[in-house]
Amino acid sequence: VLAPVRQGGGWAGYRRAVRDLLLTVDPTLGRRASLERSLREAIGDGRLVAGDALPSTRALADDLGISRSTVVAAYEQLAIEGYLITRQGALARVAPTRLPAEPSPGRAKPGRFVPYDFRPGSPAVGLFPRAAWLRSSRAVMRDAADEAFDYGDWRGSPVLRAQLASYLSRVRAVAADVGAVRIYGGFFAAVSFLGDALRASGERRIAIENPSLHVVRQALAGAGLEVVPVPVDAGGIVVEVLETLDVGAVLVTPSHQYPTGVAMTPERRVELIAWARNHGRWIIEDDYDGEFRYDRQPVGALQGLAPDRVIYGGTASKTLAPGLRLAWLVVPAEFRRILDETTNFRGGVSVIEQLTLADLIDRGELDRHVRAARAVYRTRREALIERLAEVVWLRQLAPTSAGLHVTVVADELDEQMLVDRAAELGIGLFGLGPHWSGTPQQSGLVLGFTRPPRHRFDEALTRLVRYLTDER
Ligand SMILES: Cc1ncc(COP(=O)(O)O)c(C=O)c1O
Repeated sequence: VLAPVRQGGGWAGYRRAVRDLLLTVDPTLGRRASLERSLREAIGDGRLVAGDALPSTRALADDLGISRSTVVAAYEQLAIEGYLITRQGALARVAPTRLPAEPSPGRAKPGRFVPYDFRPGSPAVGLFPRAAWLRSSRAVMRDAADEAFDYGDWRGSPVLRAQLASYLSRVRAVAADVGAVRIYGGFFAAVSFLGDALRASGERRIAIENPSLHVVRQALAGAGLEVVPVPVDAGGIVVEVLETLDVGAVLVTPSHQYPTGVAMTPERRVELIAWARNHGRWIIEDDYDGEFRYDRQPVGALQGLAPDRVIYGGTASKTLAPGLRLAWLVVPAEFRRILDETTNFRGGVSVIEQLTLADLIDRGELDRHVRAARAVYRTRREALIERLAEVVWLRQLAPTSAGLHVTVVADELDEQMLVDRAAELGIGLFGLGPHWSGTPQQSGLVLGFTRPPRHRFDEALTRLVRYLTDER
């Protein structure tokens, strides 16, 4: 059945409301499943873009000749996967995504320069240790055997895997040896391989923290897993809720929950590990910014407490630069075979970059860089928090002194309006909304403090605070 979808309804003057869109419902696949697939494809290929308002469930049901409850269920599932944002009494909208959509004809928007950018996600890329990287790169070019430039071990260069095993055990208390480490082109790629491996081992469902990073949810859903949200409280993911679910694995961010900033308490860590061990389930630990703790020594990784049940994930994206596209997993022995079989020759990243990073770690340059970056981030974070205190209607969500972002919340905030108006003034903001699975439970902003260049940081803070103060 091909149905033209008309209807925009109530959103004129906001952003685009979808007026014309072809969605297919193939009853042989199941109405709900095929509607979900059709919507995913429309978002994936750029026919629907961030901010687009979808037709109301009633209008779409009428147009497609299916029941409204089917449309509601499909919208809810896509919201859980991070494709849509749904809110009581409002049209569902396409969620913003940090993955650049394929440019589609007539849609290309030139990247606008954002002078006062408080969006989260990247480190201060200007701090990248260029000179040290160049030294390591020269050393690799000078010393590496010719064979190093051949097809390597697609699980990752043994040289880097050995360096990471000792770095991670020293810095993050991870229990690792060369055989356990795998290298990927970024954590998101690693997650999608993990999703494939879980599916291949017969799992159908995976739990994830709510709120969480929507691209991670998308990577898991893309592997064919049903992604089940589990609430987070002041201690971390609520294991009591996890206990009631039939899931094969859970993905968590224990050292600094993304995006709330909660650090998982020792009691909760013990509970979570007991859950995994008692039911034979896997924990995927996303330790994306574990090196950045400011008030005390970083808390060790969860993996160190249960190397048999925890699949540890780390990345160079926060410590060095996202552009490197280097991330790693430390995988329990029991999970390695299925992961290796399903990943097979699809894995593999540049051996030359891997050897360069290995050399950088070996020389102590990564440690030195992280120490220097930590000092910069600590100062910036403190300045941001001090200035935000002037904005009386905002409060900080979980004041863990860690990471590269601060999450602030306020009741009944029109996030999208706040973000859009700020953009007109050159201030980059990102709302808490897209991090929720399903209906957002709290409105707020996830403020990164890494992007404004050093010489403009104070000015950026002043503009941010003035803007936020004036907006209410
Ligand atoms: C929660 C979280 N996990 C992981 C990553 C890193 O992913 P990648 O290694 O693909 O850059 C990020 C980066 O933004 C993140 O915010």
